Amino acid sequence: MDNTCGLTRRQLICGLAAIGQSGGAIAAGLANGADEKEPWRAEDGLLSASLEVSQRWIRLGETSVHSFVFNGQFPGPPIELQPGETLRLRLRNLLAEATNLHFHGLHVTPSSPGDNVFLSVPAGDEFDYEFTLPADHPAGLFWYHPHVHGNTARQLFRGLAGCFIVRGEVDQIPEVAQATEHFLLLKDWAIDRLGEIPEPSMMERISGREGPLVTVGGRVNPRLTLPNGGLLRLRLLNASPSRIYRLKLEDHPLHLIGTDGGALPAVRSVDELLLSPGERADVLIQGERNGGSYHLFNLPYDRGAGMMMSRGRLGQPETIATISYEGAVERQRLPERLVTVEALPAPKAEIRRFILSEGGVGRLGMRFLINGREFAHDRVDTRVRLGTVEDWEIVNLGRMDHPFHLHTNAFQVLDSAGAPELAWRDGLLVPASQRRRFRVRFADFSGRAVYHCHILDHEDLGMMGVIEMEA
Ligand code: C2O
Ligand code: CU
Ligand code: CU
Repeated sequence: MDNTCGLTRRQLICGLAAIGQSGGAIAAGLANGADEKEPWRAEDGLLSASLEVSQRWIRLGETSVHSFVFNGQFPGPPIELQPGETLRLRLRNLLAEATNLHFHGLHVTPSSPGDNVFLSVPAGDEFDYEFTLPADHPAGLFWYHPHVHGNTARQLFRGLAGCFIVRGEVDQIPEVAQATEHFLLLKDWAIDRLGEIPEPSMMERISGREGPLVTVGGRVNPRLTLPNGGLLRLRLLNASPSRIYRLKLEDHPLHLIGTDGGALPAVRSVDELLLSPGERADVLIQGERNGGSYHLFNLPYDRGAGMMMSRGRLGQPETIATISYEGAVERQRLPERLVTVEALPAPKAEIRRFILSEGGVGRLGMRFLINGREFAHDRVDTRVRLGTVEDWEIVNLGRMDHPFHLHTNAFQVLDSAGAPELAWRDGLLVPASQRRRFRVRFADFSGRAVYHCHILDHEDLGMMGVIEMEA
């Protein structure tokens, strides 16, 4: 893309390998990786690539960690496609356990060889994924991660995540195109003294596992630069299995231009941004100051049930990245308008209700339920007709917040008066003891997919259901 003096303007923190410098104690076992990774892109409409999943030592700041990685690096290689292009991706599983892939947020077929989370790739085996993005697929930041029921939280927590970028209309808006773009994949880690990632206790699984170290694109407190007058575009992705980020940039408002599934109609300026597991945000920062460094804070957030997951850190903001002023440019403005988002039409059907509860005690400890049942691979819980619009109400009877996520189709959140938000999302945070609604159209793809709590330990402990979209 835009190359200036041999430097790429897009600094892909998303693709930064954790390893930069040598000299680690276990350097021989460390994975390789370039400092700044350009994403994989298609040629003549096709991107053919392979992802190898293995266990490796990587470096996160000062710490070496025995992680799970895609192609030897954390985060995994960023993938970038345009609407209408095809991905052919070979997954080679070099782990000693089964894994698979999910393409979070993409509107693609949920059937094999597409985004099928029901299949599992055994240890030592491989699978060829292939799908084509619809020609009208919105531009946005999506991501990939494993989705083997029972092990999803564990495999993601160990490092299996990567960005999936779809380029399109919003990227061509001149003000947006001018901004310096960074992909900030947020992920927390628990690492023991030997560099291993400990298995969580049952209580930690019930809370949803968290770790005290937060990395941003595989780096600890990275420094981003911004010229006075300039614009930064931060593509935030919460790739933590359980942690909810409450982000605030010191002395700067955040100008939100996009949510999970694409751009907004206009800029929405906020002081703070809550980012639930799986959620993305597209944010512009204006270089309004004359110098200095500003912290990107993660503020305390209580997601319920007197969580011990915060390890005593609740109550203290932590710095996860720093923005430093360097130089000055002619003032870059915020865009006036972004893209058209049409409200989905009100449905004819009755509202569909999903009750989330924490409670059942099963043979494997506490279970998490939707409508009183835990996930079963072969049972269809919800049947919908392709082409129809429905309103879904998610009722949280639990004591913890549950971020509800639906595969295949993005939705519009309804406010308390029933009006749809003009924004595409695929996750909805339902706070403890509350209910929330969204409107969704089941478009283009028939087949089976899932919905679940994106606190992935809850998903692994049963809080997932199967939807069949029938032609
Ligand atoms: Cu990011 Cu079904 O998940
Ligand atoms: Cu998903
Ligand atoms: Cu949950």
